[in-house]
Amino acid sequence: KVQKQVTGAPPPLPVVGVPANVGGEQGASPSEPKECNHRNGRWVPDKRRPLYSGFGCKQWLSESWSCRLTQRTDFDYEQFRWQPEACDMLEFEASQFLMRVQDKTIAYVGDSLGRQMFQSMMCMATAGEERTDVEDVGAEYGLALAPGAKRPDGWAYRFPSTNTTILDNLHRIHVLVLNTGHHWNRGKLRANKWEMYVGGSPNHNKNIAAIWKAKNFTIHSVVKWLDAQLPRHPHLKAFYRSISPRHFFNGDWDTGGRCDSTSPLAKGSGISQNRSEDADAEGAVTGTRVKLLDVTALSRLRDEGHISRYSIKATQGIQDCLHWCLPGVPDTWNEILAAQLL
Ligand SMILES: *[C@@H]1O[C@H](CO)[C@@H](O)[C@H](O)[C@H]1NC(C)=O
Ligand SMILES: *[C@@H]1O[C@H](CO)[C@@H](O)[C@H](O)[C@H]1NC(C)=O
Ligand SMILES: *[C@@H]1O[C@H](CO)[C@@H](O)[C@H](O)[C@H]1NC(C)=O
Repeated sequence: KVQKQVTGAPPPLPVVGVPANVGGEQGASPSEPKECNHRNGRWVPDKRRPLYSGFGCKQWLSESWSCRLTQRTDFDYEQFRWQPEACDMLEFEASQFLMRVQDKTIAYVGDSLGRQMFQSMMCMATAGEERTDVEDVGAEYGLALAPGAKRPDGWAYRFPSTNTTILDNLHRIHVLVLNTGHHWNRGKLRANKWEMYVGGSPNHNKNIAAIWKAKNFTIHSVVKWLDAQLPRHPHLKAFYRSISPRHFFNGDWDTGGRCDSTSPLAKGSGISQNRSEDADAEGAVTGTRVKLLDVTALSRLRDEGHISRYSIKATQGIQDCLHWCLPGVPDTWNEILAAQLL
């Protein structure tokens, strides 16, 4: 989901996931520079991946995103780890991670790609094992299933052993991960009968009426608003996650576009660039205390990791080259998040 308004004030972003966990340490060596650029690095094959099985994590993983439950037969894409150029990342281990985020609350607020990241985190934090002790605390945060709605406004879960919660009220959050992106197109705007508002009134400003400008304007507004909140919430670490790339080849999602490569990293395994590929996101966080979780370029190298034609809910002839198989690429986004929570 994406906010339906463009305003100077924070648009009400739907809560996507509310997992718990923060933490993550990385930078094995104490002499390591604090600022490690996770944007640059390379994908390396690693037999310790994936961090959970796609046959497991049934409590949180949507079956339409679990490619192990489909007819897909190639799974090489599950066995990669991101190796940053300038540092090592501490190996992710669920119980260690939970201890690091003891008493913390982590929230993901954004769209369905944010929900993927939330589900990925729940699966990583449980290593895909069933966990009857984890409590659904959605009601505590006012997350409810509206009458007739397909899904609630959000989810919140707590790991009692470490009192770690995953979810959305700023004063109760320690780690916030925002994202938006793919809902910013005319088709969705029209289909959802959304209108643009700025400062509480319908927008007549042509400078932001174009969708790409409205998106940029909104990202900037939200990040600016969040940055202004931070002094009042000194324990809050805020991240804006850059856009997740689509990989429709030979068409778009509705005109037969495909992403059926089964060869990982056909276009190279490494990234080394001094700019984010998501200029709007990079511009918005510049000069603020909100950190950029820059997953765009590294994810662009992983065109084989999408659901492609394999979803249980797939429609004949339509491929999903936007969402990712889980376990998969969003796990790496969470590993980078964990590393930056150090
Ligand atoms: C759990 O963590 C919260 C902070 O997120 C804290 O206020 C609360 O006291 C903790 N609960 C227990 C039982 O330690
Ligand atoms: C994005 O929005 C910001 C703030 O409104 C503006 O300064 C910047 O020029 C915009 N970027 C583009 C590419 O229009
Ligand atoms: C970015 O990198 C290129 C080469 O990799 C270099 O020529 C350029 O000066 C760099 N730009 C900035 C702003 O650092």
